[in-house]
Amino acid sequence: MNSNVESHAPVVTIDGPSGSGKGTISQLVAKQLGWSYLDSGALYRLLALAAQHHSLELDDEASLETLAAHLDVEFTSKGDILLEGESVDDILRTEETGKLASVVAALPKVRLALLARQRAFAQPPGLVADGRDMGTTVFPSAEVKIFLTASAEARAERRYKQLKEKGFDVNLAHLLQDIESRDLRDIQRSSSPLKAADDAIEIDTTTLSIDDVVEQVLEHCKLVK
Ligand code: DC
Repeated sequence: MNSNVESHAPVVTIDGPSGSGKGTISQLVAKQLGWSYLDSGALYRLLALAAQHHSLELDDEASLETLAAHLDVEFTSKGDILLEGESVDDILRTEETGKLASVVAALPKVRLALLARQRAFAQPPGLVADGRDMGTTVFPSAEVKIFLTASAEARAERRYKQLKEKGFDVNLAHLLQDIESRDLRDIQRSSSPLKAADDAIEIDTTTLSIDDVVEQVLEHCKLVK
C-alpha cells in the first residue's frame, strides 16, 4: 500500500461532471471495499443552503468563507444529513440546490475553507471520495484516481429518470441546459476546476451499466486493497 501525504489511509478518488454516475458508483465501490465514502458535492450543496438560511449573497466571498469554516453539518449513522440540526435530505438533491452549489463552489476562499474538512474523511481502512477536484486538489496523492465521463445527453437522461422516480416534475430539455451550464461553470472556474488529474484513469460511462463501471473501478483498486 502506498503512503499518502494527506492522510494515513488509502484513498480512491472518483471525479467527473454532474450526472456521470459518480455518486452511485462511489457508494457501491466504498461498500465493496468496506471503506467510508465522501460526497464532497454535498458539502457545497449544504453551504449553498446555509447561505440561503442566513440570507447571504452568493458572491459575498468573505461571509461565505466564514460560513464554510463553521458549517454546522452532521452526517448521521442512519444516512441522514442534518444542517444546523435540521434534516435537509429532500432539498439537498434538487437541481436548484446543485446550481447554487456550483456558484458558491467557484469562490477560491470557500474551497480553501472546506479543504481540511474533506481531508479529515480519510481514515482507515480507507476512503472513496467523489467530486470534481478530489484527484487534483483534495487528495493529489490518492492511490487510485478515476475520472468518469458521459455525454451530456446521457447524463441529462439519467438525471431525468432519477428525478422522475423521486416524484419531481422535470423537463428533459431544461435538465440538459442546466447540465451544460453547470459543466461550463465547473470547468471554467479558476480555482480547482473540473478536470481529470494527469494520473487519472478515464472511464466513459455513456454506454456502460452501473455494474460494469463498478467492476472496472474495483479492478483498478485491486492493487491497493
Ligand atoms: O456532485 P454535485 O452535483 O452534488 O455537486 C454540486 C456542485 O458542487 C457542482 O456543480 C460543483 C460543486 N462541487 C465542486 O465544485 N467540487 C466538488 N469536489 C464537488 C462539487
